[in-house]
Amino acid sequence: MVTVVSHPLVQHKLSIMRDERTGVKEFRELASELSLLLAYEAMRDLETEPSRLKTPIQEGDFPVLSGRKLALVAILRAGLIMAESIVTLVPAAKVGHIGLYRDPETLQPVAYYNKLPTDIAERRVFLTDPMLATGGSASAAIQSLKDAGATSIKLMSILAAPEGIAVIERDHPDVDIVVAAIDERLNDHGYIVPGLGDAGDRIYGTR
Ligand code: URA
Repeated sequence: MVTVVSHPLVQHKLSIMRDERTGVKEFRELASELSLLLAYEAMRDLETEPSRLKTPIQEGDFPVLSGRKLALVAILRAGLIMAESIVTLVPAAKVGHIGLYRDPETLQPVAYYNKLPTDIAERRVFLTDPMLATGGSASAAIQSLKDAGATSIKLMSILAAPEGIAVIERDHPDVDIVVAAIDERLNDHGYIVPGLGDAGDRIYGTR
């Protein structure tokens, strides 16, 4: 299932991120803020259970999070800012990292770094990658999570191309996707059109 968070605040922030005049500081802040808004939607189905407590006025049963613990997993490097922002909402979540590069000959994603919580199989996993473009890295990252035992995975991206969504739906139909927008297409260089450019470069000021 794909959820597009079409909230006015989300769309407004995304439009500023798209603007080529937006500088590193503002882009980074917006990426963090958008990540929180996406997480709010992505975590809508977290389980709760009643907890007995006393307010200063009266005792009662009030909902607190229950069920599986959470893990945030960032695809390096651009996914890092999303995970680091979202962990402020769910500070008990464990955080994993997956680094991938594309082999120049086979064009297949190759993992160069993989550090996941050891109990990932018992956790609900939220995988962060701001740009779901070809879907190659996200699909490989999801496979690494599954190989490590994860059974509950949601992919969170700021922007997606239809091509990337189709790859995840084909390779991992059990994985839900939460995005701020789905753009028109990929160009010949694998960039999302109209997109926002290279998210990693714009977050880290390396372009
Ligand atoms: N990665 C990016 O950072 N931007 C794109 O448009 C596609 C992939």
